[in-house]
Amino acid sequence: MLKQLLIITMVASGLSVAQPAASQHQLIPAPVTYTAQPGHLTINGPLAVTNEGANSAQLKAVTQWFGQQASRVGLTVDANAAAGKVLRLRLVNKPNDHGAEGYKLEVNTGGISIEAGEPAGIFYGLQSVLQMLPARALNKGVQLLVPCCTMADAPRFGWRGLMLDVSRHFFTVSEVKQYLDVMAHYKLNVLHWHLTDDNGWRIEIKSFPKLTEVGGCRVPRYGTFGERLAPVPGEKATDCGFYTQADIAEVVRYAAERHITIVPEIDVPGHSLAAIAAYPELSITKVPAYVNPGSKFSEWYANGTFKMLLDNTLNPADEKVYAFLDKVFGEVAQLFPGQYIHAGGDECYHGYWEKSPVCQQFMRKNGIKDVHGLQSYFMKRVNAMIAAKGKTMIGWDEIMDGGLADGAAVMSWRGTKGGVEAAKMGHAAVMTPTTHCYLDYMQADATLEPRIYEKLYLKTTYEFEPVPAGVNSSLILGGQGNLWTEKVPTLDHAFYMTYPRALALAEVLWSPASTREWPGFVQRTEAHFERFDQGKTGEGQNCHGGNGLRPPQC
Ligand code: ACM
Repeated sequence: MLKQLLIITMVASGLSVAQPAASQHQLIPAPVTYTAQPGHLTINGPLAVTNEGANSAQLKAVTQWFGQQASRVGLTVDANAAAGKVLRLRLVNKPNDHGAEGYKLEVNTGGISIEAGEPAGIFYGLQSVLQMLPARALNKGVQLLVPCCTMADAPRFGWRGLMLDVSRHFFTVSEVKQYLDVMAHYKLNVLHWHLTDDNGWRIEIKSFPKLTEVGGCRVPRYGTFGERLAPVPGEKATDCGFYTQADIAEVVRYAAERHITIVPEIDVPGHSLAAIAAYPELSITKVPAYVNPGSKFSEWYANGTFKMLLDNTLNPADEKVYAFLDKVFGEVAQLFPGQYIHAGGDECYHGYWEKSPVCQQFMRKNGIKDVHGLQSYFMKRVNAMIAAKGKTMIGWDEIMDGGLADGAAVMSWRGTKGGVEAAKMGHAAVMTPTTHCYLDYMQADATLEPRIYEKLYLKTTYEFEPVPAGVNSSLILGGQGNLWTEKVPTLDHAFYMTYPRALALAEVLWSPASTREWPGFVQRTEAHFERFDQGKTGEGQNCHGGNGLRPPQC
């Protein structure tokens, strides 16, 4: 944005001045209202911070954080600065005034003031201020100017998410923090953390240590995911990575400071090969399995059906599986303070269940008519155990097959149909259709980036409408972008795939639909590229090369 801010430099009284354009903001997501006012705030010393509010301790932490961020461009804040320009933060503790995340912001020649009903609103107001500051430190002697304006802002949706798959590629704590930093900057507030899958179990569960000792390791492989060599007999699984419970607590704390809720996903009953590698007795076939290093695992047929070549499903007919899951979800519920726990439910291959006499007998005994009913039975059991821990289950839209569990929320990925049906039945839904939200899909021509089987261009993402006509909008919690990482080998590549499409999602999910405007968004996005070039921010700054075996080098 600060092209405008910096483009024109003047020499006046021996000072260069960074001259912002006054009429237009460069904010992403676009605020609900923005009114340019005449003049600029000139900042040439520390901003004196004043905190007002029922609990101004809440504001102290956020002020400190803002100070760290703003210091990148040479702006300092100081609670004791006597005179000069002011940063006034006012928490009215009346959420009805601005909504739980909304704020009012004014920049005038005397300073900046932000008023909000809740600390999140102050935080988002400060994010807007950060976006009004230059992308990079100004040259010595150049004055920092911010255009005067008034803004009122609040999000359209409460669920503005990104999903990060840490099973296919393990990201270190430091890397997850960097991912969170950028999310917060664009007012994204949910990290859906895909912690388990066929290619690695990434969360320590104290009751079942082999989940990470065995399930967190695979044989080292490079090359195209899906075509890699399966483990050879006797080969050691040395490519390891998992989060200890202390790591999880640290990431949860870090996210909460940035007003991001983490939704953990334990993907069952399919996608469970890593758990089965650790505890083969959890499956029907009970054959010793291995954590898949990215070798061929399925066959897809022209009619849309598929077959899993390895049995990666939990046994729905075994009480011991439910006892196992109860302990797993019990520990997960303790670690994550948010309301939702994601229990997966997607792409569960039923072939091994269909062939199993144990499953057939179980179905007869329980009056279950087919394998869809059996999956529904399984998800209802999981739903009940999650509810008993005071949480709400959310699952991919397959959890509706055979009947949706009471109170469960649906994450609609095979289009928006599942979310629409869920809302019609009075269930909450999060919209994340492949057509608009799959960030693992190519965003450019295949000659320019690694080939993936689908494309999703920025413009299409920007056209995403989370509330289809005729749906009770109060049941659509929001939406999210999903970054599956089969073909994402580094954090840099994760950022490349996520942005700028996540900027489009940030705007779709925050700004009123009526303010959406593609040419303006493109122009603002271009301006934000300069910020991306400035690199990483936050505690995880400049950390590279970590994996489960080696700590990152910071
Ligand atoms: C999914 O993409 N399997 C939810």
